[in-house]
Amino acid sequence: MTRKLFIKTYGCQMNVYDSERMADILAPLGYAETGSPDDADMVILNTCHIREKAAEKVFSELGRIRKLKERRRAAGADMVIGVAGCVAQAEGDEIVRRAPFVDIVFGPQSYQHLPEMVARAARANGQPVLETDFEVEDKFDRLAETPGRSGPTAFLTIQEGCDKFCAFCVVPYTRGAEYSRSAPEIMAEARRLVASGAVEITLLGQNVNAWHGAGPDGGADWALGRLVRELAEIDGLQRIRYTTSHPLEMTVDLISAHAEVPALMPYLHLPVQAGSDRILRAMNRRHDRDTYFRIIDKLRDARPDLALSSDFIVGFPGETDRDFADTLNLVTQVKYAQAYSFKYSPRPGTPAAAESVQVAESVKDERLQSLQALINEQQAAFNADMAGRTMPVLLERDGRHAGQLVGRSPYMQAVHLEAPVTLRNRIVDVTIIEGRANSLSGRLARNPDVVDAA
Ligand code: SAH
Ligand code: SF4
Ligand code: F3S
Repeated sequence: MTRKLFIKTYGCQMNVYDSERMADILAPLGYAETGSPDDADMVILNTCHIREKAAEKVFSELGRIRKLKERRRAAGADMVIGVAGCVAQAEGDEIVRRAPFVDIVFGPQSYQHLPEMVARAARANGQPVLETDFEVEDKFDRLAETPGRSGPTAFLTIQEGCDKFCAFCVVPYTRGAEYSRSAPEIMAEARRLVASGAVEITLLGQNVNAWHGAGPDGGADWALGRLVRELAEIDGLQRIRYTTSHPLEMTVDLISAHAEVPALMPYLHLPVQAGSDRILRAMNRRHDRDTYFRIIDKLRDARPDLALSSDFIVGFPGETDRDFADTLNLVTQVKYAQAYSFKYSPRPGTPAAAESVQVAESVKDERLQSLQALINEQQAAFNADMAGRTMPVLLERDGRHAGQLVGRSPYMQAVHLEAPVTLRNRIVDVTIIEGRANSLSGRLARNPDVVDAA
């Protein structure tokens, strides 16, 4: 019997990966994914705890899901409701208390037990089943036994958790300590993804460049540079990316991989968070602004066409106008292709939340606006600069109109163009006509040089 599964994913790409793997784990039980919660037999919210509103959104979404469940029950059917991810990990008890109609609550390091949890929930007479243990090794062992599927682009989690303890961040608490999967395990998963259609793989981790996995046959550990070089040897794998990196873990070897491995895309997300040394210290980022500039210089020496993105937090406790001016100045110096910026949000249990000098909300708003204006300007300039260039584009999906496809440039820009649907999932050369604020438009280069003949 087929049962319908609806998963809604919040937060980072690691949650996207986890959601895909949850679907893989539930497939043998007869669950197939559906696009709407309305008639689903199981609804899972895979949640994020990084900023305040994220958790509140989950509770209001749960309110809506509860109504659907009641409607289904009135019609003689049922619905299993699961809450997964970082809110579940951090506030599992609160969810059970505030939303007792939820059936299962489980953290990011225990979803390998989903089939057992579903069975337990069925026996539990409406009592929520809660599981928030950190069993990351067990998780990846179980996942390795579970076949997955893949489209042209795939995520592959290689590292979990974080030991950096930035003063503002909940991740070390919700995802646990740093854990690296072994190199052979990752290579096997990458080969499987490529065999099922992936031409681009993005390696994921909260501190992905801190990855150091056991080598084959009990050999010495590999670091990320080595892994990237080995992955590039897989036949059919044409693009490799990795995210998110910490500046401190940007080793010489990894930087040189950017020079040596053509499949490693010239785009790097390297969050700096703030431009003031004083604030970087207060954030416990463990590096200063100069170190960040030096790393970027080395990266650009290795790969002159490298484009960068970053994350920024405005209004960290104690941030003055002058500190914030340092952030604007850093952005001006680096010139980003793209960047994300957030108002500081005090998170329970983190050191920064207990600071006495919190920045007023109105000041955070102003700073966010001016930072975003600068970032948008840089992004628009970066995109506009693409006009006239010909670049390889991975055609991922159908466009809005018939005859249109949408692809990704090496720099992660969305590229819209007219192309026959037979070119989907391939990398083709595209000449860019126009660069807009958030996307590019282009046309197939005259003799479509289909790099990938798959
Ligand atoms: N591991 C990554 C980031 C993970 S969280 C890194 O080291 O950069 C993603 C982003 O959310 C962070 O880069 C930060 O900019 C933002 N963020 C994290 N905690 C936050 C908080 N308390 N308030 C506002 N933004 C936050
Ligand atoms: Fe959070 Fe800092 Fe770890 Fe990134 S490095 S996940 S920001 S604690
Ligand atoms: Fe959010 Fe957890 Fe990712 S808090 S950003 S889903 S690691």
